[in-house]
Amino acid sequence: MKTIDLHIKIEEFDNISELKVQDQELLKKAWEACDSAYAPYSRFNVGAAVLLENGEIVSGNNQENAAYPSGLCAERVAMYYASSQHPGVPMKAIAVGVKSDVVHLEDPGSPCGSCRQVMAEYEYLHKTKLRIILGSPHTRIQILEGIGSLLPLTFYAEGLKK
Ligand code: THU
Repeated sequence: MKTIDLHIKIEEFDNISELKVQDQELLKKAWEACDSAYAPYSRFNVGAAVLLENGEIVSGNNQENAAYPSGLCAERVAMYYASSQHPGVPMKAIAVGVKSDVVHLEDPGSPCGSCRQVMAEYEYLHKTKLRIILGSPHTRIQILEGIGSLLPLTFYAEGLKK
C-alpha cells in the first residue's frame, strides 16, 4: 500500500484590482453575463466568460427550465458556444462569477462536477491548460491553473482507447 498526496495550488485575491488586467477583463465579462442569466427558479445568476487563443471572449450564463434538469450551467453554455462558434480554437481561460438577490455569497462560486468534466474535455482536446478564475463581485477571487486542480484523477478520452 502507498499513499498519494495531491497538491493543489490556489491563488487567492481579496479584490479584482489585484488581478492581471487580462484576468480582470475576463472576470468582468463573466459578471456582466450574470445580468442576462435566465434563472427564475434559483435566482442564482451565474456568468462565465471564456478567453480563446485568438483573443476572442465568449460569454454565457445559466439557463433554467421549469423541468429543472433541462437547464444548463453558465460554464457549459459558454464553453459549448465557444466550441461551436470557434471549433478547433483552444480555450485559454474561463472566469466564473455569481450574482444573486436571494443567496448570500461568502465564497467564490465553484463549478459543478459536470462543468469540470467539460473543462477537462477541452483541455484534453487542445492539449492546453485552462486558467480558471472564480469569484463574485463581493467575494474573494481564486485562480487555479488547469482542471487537474478542480478535478483530480480526471477521466479523459484516453480512458476509452481500444
Ligand atoms: N450553476 C451554474 O451555472 N454553474 C455551476 O457551476 C453551478 C450551478 C447554476 C445551475 C442553476 O441554474 C443554478 O446555478 C443553481 O444551481
